[in-house]
Amino acid sequence: MISNSPIAPVVPAGRMARNPQPVLDLPGGLELRPWQLSDADVLVAAGQDPAIRLWNLLVVESPEDARGRIERMHERWQAEQSAIWAIARPGGGEAMGLIGWGDIDLKDGSAEIVYWILPAARGGGVVVEALKRVSRWALEDLGLHRLRLCHSVANPASCRVAAKAGYSLEGTMRSALLHADGWHDQHLHALIQGDL
Ligand SMILES: CC(C)(COP(=O)(O)OP(=O)(O)OC[C@H]1O[C@@H](n2cnc3c(N)ncnc32)[C@H](O)[C@@H]1OP(=O)(O)O)[C@@H](O)C(=O)NCCC(=O)NCCS
Repeated sequence: MISNSPIAPVVPAGRMARNPQPVLDLPGGLELRPWQLSDADVLVAAGQDPAIRLWNLLVVESPEDARGRIERMHERWQAEQSAIWAIARPGGGEAMGLIGWGDIDLKDGSAEIVYWILPAARGGGVVVEALKRVSRWALEDLGLHRLRLCHSVANPASCRVAAKAGYSLEGTMRSALLHADGWHDQHLHALIQGDL
C-alpha cells in the first residue's frame, strides 16, 4: 500500500488491539487491571463524589450506564483509542480508582491521562504510583512519544500528582475547559520519551 505521509506512524497500528490489556503491578499490594462489569457500582459511587464530578466531569446515571461505560472501555482498547485501568487490590479486589490514557493517537505517538480515586483511598500517594506505572507502560511498552496531563489551575492536588510523577509544567491554557462553575484555565504538563 502506498502511504500518503512521508513520516511513518510513531506506533504501528495493531500494537494494542492484538494483545489483551495487561495487568500492571503497583507498590503497596495494589494492581492496575481492566475494568469489569462487576465494578459498575464503583463507577456509580465515583459519579456521586463532588470532587470527581467537578474535576473529571463524570456523571454516571445508573448501574446500567456504568456497565455501558465499562463495555466502551473494552471497545476503545480494541479500537486503540483509550487504555483505562481500575486501581484495585489483586485477586478481584474492589476497584478504588481509575487511571489511563484517553485520546490515544498511535500515528502521532501521543495520549492524555485521566485519573481519579475514591475519597476513602486518597492521601496515600496511590495515584502518583499509578501514574508513574501507566506512563512507563505508555512510553516503554506501547512506544508513545509524548504524554499530556491537563488539570484546572484550581486543582492543586492534581498539580502535585503531576509534579511528583515527573510531568513538567509547560504552561497555562486559558479558558480551556468548562466546569460546572464556569471556564477554568488549565495547566498543561507533559512527559516525553527520554524524561524517565
Ligand atoms: C487528585 C487526586 C487524584 C489526588 O490523589 P490523592 O490520593 O488525593 O493524592 P495524595 O494524597 O497522594 O497527594 C498527592 C500530593 O498532592 C498533595 N495534595 C493533596 N491535596 C492537596 C490540596 N488540596 N492542595 C495542595 N496539595 C494537595 C499532597 O500533599 C501530595 O503531595 P506531597 O506528597 O508533596 O505532600 C484525588 O484527590 C482525586 O481523585 N481528586 C478528585 C478528582 C480529581 O481531582 N481528578 C483529577 C482531575 S485532573
